[in-house]
Amino acid sequence: MRKILLLGASGSIGSQSLDILKGDPKSFLLTSFSVGKRVEIIPDILLSFPSVSHICVQKESDYDVLKAQYPSIHFYFGDEGLRQICEEADYDMAVNALVGFAGLVPSITVLRQDKILALANKESLVVGGRIIKKLLKEGHGKLYPIDSEHVAIAKLLSRVKPEEVEKILITASGGSFRNLKREELAQVTPEMALAHPTWSMGAKITIDSATMMNKGFEVIEAMVLFDYPIEKIEILMHDESHVHSLLKLKDGTLLADVSVPDMHGPIAYALHETHVEFELKRVHKLSELGPYHFHKYDPHRYPAPMIAVNAYQKGGDLTTILNAANEMAVYAFLEGKIPFLSIEKEVEKALANIPYDGGEPSLRQILTLDALTRHYLQQRFERKR
Ligand SMILES: NC(=O)c1ccc[n+]([C@@H]2O[C@H](COP(=O)([O-])OP(=O)(O)OC[C@H]3O[C@@H](n4cnc5c(N)ncnc54)[C@H](OP(=O)(O)O)[C@@H]3O)[C@@H](O)[C@H]2O)c1
Repeated sequence: MRKILLLGASGSIGSQSLDILKGDPKSFLLTSFSVGKRVEIIPDILLSFPSVSHICVQKESDYDVLKAQYPSIHFYFGDEGLRQICEEADYDMAVNALVGFAGLVPSITVLRQDKILALANKESLVVGGRIIKKLLKEGHGKLYPIDSEHVAIAKLLSRVKPEEVEKILITASGGSFRNLKREELAQVTPEMALAHPTWSMGAKITIDSATMMNKGFEVIEAMVLFDYPIEKIEILMHDESHVHSLLKLKDGTLLADVSVPDMHGPIAYALHETHVEFELKRVHKLSELGPYHFHKYDPHRYPAPMIAVNAYQKGGDLTTILNAANEMAVYAFLEGKIPFLSIEKEVEKALANIPYDGGEPSLRQILTLDALTRHYLQQRFERKR
């Protein structure tokens, strides 16, 4: 039986992970978890998983109340609490379903403990990809991605020899505004942006899908995870989100991973470290599949993936600026402080104006630059008021 630490239990990936743990009590024991501000779900989780002994919450005020309410449970709070729970809880595998930069230190801490990391928090790889790769190479920790595209690619790559592969094709739905022209994006609202056509996800990734910054992050993720250069990775627009990614082989064949959009599948794959029988919404007949639509990716319509990949390729700590600026701009858009099209503009401004180091940044340097970038954006947003 595998002991699990679940970070971000109150989120979209977190709650789907709980479904899987609940459905397979012979394979998994939840020993510890974190939530952010939604502490009201803690009693329900504890009812389903009495095995839990360690919990982290975001706010100190919640920590004070919960500590008194559940004296037998060890509580933590804040960013430091997330690091501590990764060091002190009893677990074999950590599922990192946190959103944003908050997930980086936990990812690194889990791997430093030589534990298994099931990673949904793609921002960890965007910002700390080089550190994480080094930890995997030098330590005994393992990493399994939780992202439909990367699980698809991992499955497909396991079936062919590396020399047979010409390209990885990462599919993209195009997000909530895929039917709008670029000039029509000036007036869109957060409510419109939050209605994703094929996936139900947390707010930040839904906005990242609408700008397609998410796809830029996923290309970086693929470069880090599979050691593929950018020339061998291509974005392919696909409306239905059924084809999760493809391999283009040198013999002209295309291999595709096809299933209905349901994150339970990729989560179960990572938790079991392999294929499993899992009750997904299944497609039983081939005749039920399709029709499927594919389009060429247009970098003028969606510049964000190019901004992301260029930042990664320039190296150094530019992806820290990229990620922090994007996170700040996405939340500013959600709060109605900036228009949708300013998300990319703010990211580009931060990348152009914040001085960065070309060398390989340490975690300390990343943390400093993240804070500096957030301060830079904060000042810009305040000036705009
Ligand atoms: N959703 C998907 O289908 C999907 C697919 C592939 C990859 N991903 C990736 O998976 C990650 C999670 O996405 P999601 O859609 O599940 O996000 P979400 O629904 O917004 O959930 C995020 C989780 O992180 C917690 N959290 C946020 N900020 C925190 C902080 N500063 N300290 C502690 N906890 C914090 C939230 O807590 P509270 O809500 O309690 O405040 C929540 O539990 C993202 O990196 C995303 O890109 C998601």
